[in-house]
Amino acid sequence: MTDSAPARAGSSDGAAGTETPDKSGQQQQADQAVAERLARAGERVRGVLDEVARCFVGPREVPERIVTCLLARGHVLLEGVPGVAKTTLIRAFANAIGASFKRIQFTPDLLPSDITGTYVLSPREGGFSLRKGPVFAHVVLGDEINRAPAKTQSALLEAMQESQVTIDGESHQLEQPFFVLATQNPIEQEGTYPLPEAQVDRFLMRIVVGYPSIADELKIIRTYSTAAPEARPVLSPEEVLWLQSRTAEVFVDDEIYAYAVALATYTRTHPRVALGASPRGSLGLVLAARANALVRGRHYVIPDDMKRLAASVLAHRLVLTPEADAEGITREAIVEEALERVPYRRSESRGEPTHGQAVSGRG
Ligand SMILES: Nc1ncnc2c1ncn2[C@@H]1O[C@H](COP(=O)(O)OP(=O)(O)OP(=O)(O)O)[C@@H](O)[C@H]1O
Ligand SMILES: [Mg+2]
Repeated sequence: MTDSAPARAGSSDGAAGTETPDKSGQQQQADQAVAERLARAGERVRGVLDEVARCFVGPREVPERIVTCLLARGHVLLEGVPGVAKTTLIRAFANAIGASFKRIQFTPDLLPSDITGTYVLSPREGGFSLRKGPVFAHVVLGDEINRAPAKTQSALLEAMQESQVTIDGESHQLEQPFFVLATQNPIEQEGTYPLPEAQVDRFLMRIVVGYPSIADELKIIRTYSTAAPEARPVLSPEEVLWLQSRTAEVFVDDEIYAYAVALATYTRTHPRVALGASPRGSLGLVLAARANALVRGRHYVIPDDMKRLAASVLAHRLVLTPEADAEGITREAIVEEALERVPYRRSESRGEPTHGQAVSGRG
């Protein structure tokens, strides 16, 4: 699945596949070392995807996005109707990276301390001892996060943001890596507390698990009506930390940065968008593209990485106007429109990208 693309694609001189001639031999060697290291890193990650694929039958794109988020140190909003193997997938993923895994079922009566933990009287130790909550795990699946009131949701969201929790005024560091996936029940809205926009913005990606194809569904029911396979560890949490640090070595051209900003700006100035993508969104897109390049064994980001990930990273952050809702325009369609109209290089631009009348009326 390694993309064949020119080295340093998108460099402004357009010299595809060749190193710039004025580079010193030492610099070239260093570049070569980075490229080889990142290629090895990519291989390790793809080993995880192969292991997960034994347990989760479906498009590889779904676990690929999840591992991309993990490497980018982001968190995931996971969506899908009941029974499409969200839990199965995350459990397999946690096993494959040798990580501890906890699932939290959010309910209306769940308290913040049910997530973080509490001090309990321990007569044997003659005092209070900490009973750690389920947030003390590498991989935390928060199921139906919209069923709990805001205060309880915040306990998890703060942990995501700060990688630590405060229990009775004392701070406690969480496990590293720390990776949260939250599901929202999309069907029953009654008596739920949908995440406010400010909270949704904190998730790097929204990933949708859809229904399987007919062939995949047949494979699922054949496999799972006997013994369900279990994923074996092919990485360790320490290796995940090493992989996360490698993403900083992935090369990003200035044109790529400019492209991220242009895409975010397009959403912000769109007449059907009330709240566009924040700088956290454009930053997230670059972080995700870096991590995804690594997953694909490449040491540089190409525009296709940005295009592949833009909807997952940006769409959930948008708030559309009531007109857009009435016209049936989706957030994904706005991002698609941005990808169609914003040129990758300004030099290729024939004037400023303009917004269509409405998404449905483009062309
Ligand atoms: N794509 C799939 N690959 C492998 N197993 C699947 C797949 N889809 C469904 N299954 C099987 O269906 C069952 C339900 O899966 P699981 O509990 O993971 O779903 P879920 O999305 O977490 O559901 P819920 O929203 O109710 O929590 C499991 O036995 C799982 O193995
Ligand atoms: Mg589940």
